[in-house]
Amino acid sequence: MASMPAFLLVLVPLLLSTGVAAARSGEVFGFKATLTHVDADAGYTKAQLMSRAVGRSRARVAVLQSLVTAADAITAARILVRASEGEYLMDVGIGTPPRYYSAILDTGSDLIWTQCSPCLLCVEQPTSYFEPAKSPSYATLPCSSPMCDALYYPLCFQNVCVYQYFYGDSASTAGVLANETFTFGTNLTRVTVPKVTFGCGNMNAGSLFNSSGMIGFGRGSLSLVSQLGSPRFSYCLTSFLSPTPSRLYFGAYAMLNHTNTSSGDPVQSTPFIVNPALPTMYFLNLTGISVAGILLPIDPSVFAINEADGTGGVIIDSGTSITYLAQPAYAMVQEAFVAWVGLPRMNTTPSDVLDTCFKWPPPPRRMVTLPEMVLHFDGADMELPLQNYMLVDGTTGNLCLAMAPSADGSIIGSFQHQNFHVLYDLEDSLLSFVPAPCNLM
Ligand SMILES: *[C@@H]1O[C@H](CO)[C@@H](O)[C@H](O)[C@H]1NC(C)=O
Ligand SMILES: *[C@@H]1O[C@H](CO)[C@@H](O)[C@H](O)[C@H]1NC(C)=O
Ligand SMILES: *[C@@H]1O[C@H](CO)[C@@H](O)[C@H](O)[C@H]1NC(C)=O
Ligand SMILES: *[C@@H]1O[C@H](CO)[C@@H](O)[C@H](O)[C@H]1NC(C)=O
Ligand SMILES: *[C@@H]1O[C@H](CO)[C@@H](O)[C@H](O)[C@H]1NC(C)=O
Ligand SMILES: *[C@@H]1O[C@H](CO)[C@@H](O)[C@H](O)[C@H]1NC(C)=O
Repeated sequence: MASMPAFLLVLVPLLLSTGVAAARSGEVFGFKATLTHVDADAGYTKAQLMSRAVGRSRARVAVLQSLVTAADAITAARILVRASEGEYLMDVGIGTPPRYYSAILDTGSDLIWTQCSPCLLCVEQPTSYFEPAKSPSYATLPCSSPMCDALYYPLCFQNVCVYQYFYGDSASTAGVLANETFTFGTNLTRVTVPKVTFGCGNMNAGSLFNSSGMIGFGRGSLSLVSQLGSPRFSYCLTSFLSPTPSRLYFGAYAMLNHTNTSSGDPVQSTPFIVNPALPTMYFLNLTGISVAGILLPIDPSVFAINEADGTGGVIIDSGTSITYLAQPAYAMVQEAFVAWVGLPRMNTTPSDVLDTCFKWPPPPRRMVTLPEMVLHFDGADMELPLQNYMLVDGTTGNLCLAMAPSADGSIIGSFQHQNFHVLYDLEDSLLSFVPAPCNLM
């Protein structure tokens, strides 16, 4: 207890906004963009923002459970990607001349898609549907194209490749697979990329959450990161409720060695693990968790991928807000927090997502002692800043651990990597990170 640092808790501030800047770096392709939080500019209070994010992550994880409990293999195989909603939006121009759309960035899926006219079944979106007939650079793909083969459920109609893509939360999109010119950036610094393969969706269901489509950043060949030359990207997420936009770096711009670090912390790297059952996802080798400097006695099998059916394991996912830990690991973390935190534990009901909650002391605010937390990955330790694992529950005002139990695998969510510059390198199959003041980048 003597070595325990005491932190002054600061209420987490506001949220994130838009804009894209892009440029070519010599011959090497790359661009920089900003990421907007999905709930930005909707006028929510800080408390509402937090509840909404936690609710979304619960929906996303419910899908993970349904994958495991799906009665038959076909249903399970259809739920290849998690819930359709995410936390961050990115702007993208589609067609010639470009029409601009805001789309959900999803590290848990591969397909890039937007709703297209003629629309047989469409979901409400903030912009009008993309009109392929008005863009001379639009070209449908024949059924023989390799990108058509990369789909899980390709269909062929009059030699045009037809896709259907199911998200686990019953959202889906279906339409024509096509090539189109995509523009990343603004008028000042713009990168135009011809022949990006995307889904032009004529039949869509679910909710787009104030966006107009999705951009898959997964490991599969249809994802934006796989399609564009240098397969690497990095992001730096600002404080979850901060008004400063987050940063996305693509291709040549995605590197950590020039990160504006405040701390002098070294860049750390850990290899991705491939899960043949879910090849799109970024699985990591989480080897342990320390709370207050003590390594919890979690059996390594708790974080392992089940070889027989691909369940379990640990993924990093920017589209899930809080972290979900496999139940046995969560139970130990909870026990450690209850033992260390010098505040009364609050009772929670089964409907509460967060259930390691403490009574926030009444004003005036005082110093509260909280344990340090470190996630140990194979070859890399992620020392979490306090604001990456404690939050004030929007509904109850209680101080809660920003983690929840999962009946299946574990998910490292975006809340846990605020103010880290995180690099996904697909070529070297490596995740690297370094703490960084993302609002200054
Ligand atoms: C970009 O330029 C076009 C025409 O030059 C203009 O209509 C458009 O408003 C500009 N967009 C932005 C974001 O400045
Ligand atoms: C679509 O784009 C891919 C990748 O750039 C290219 O290999 C293919 O030839 C293109 N197909 C058509 C029909 O434009
Ligand atoms: C879309 O945005 C509006 C306000 O901009 C907000 O009221 C509404 O809840 C949002 N819808 C979704 C599904 O997020
Ligand atoms: C930073 O890293 C990139 C790629 O990892 C490398 O190409 C570049 O030379 C490095 N720059 C410096 C200054 O070390
Ligand atoms: C995970 O990391 C541990 C420790 O480095 C290593 O022993 C183990 O083989 C790794 N597991 C996988 C699946 O790579
Ligand atoms: C690094 O941070 C300082 C403020 O601490 C800022 O002035 C500077 O522009 C930043 N540099 C880069 C490359 O982001």
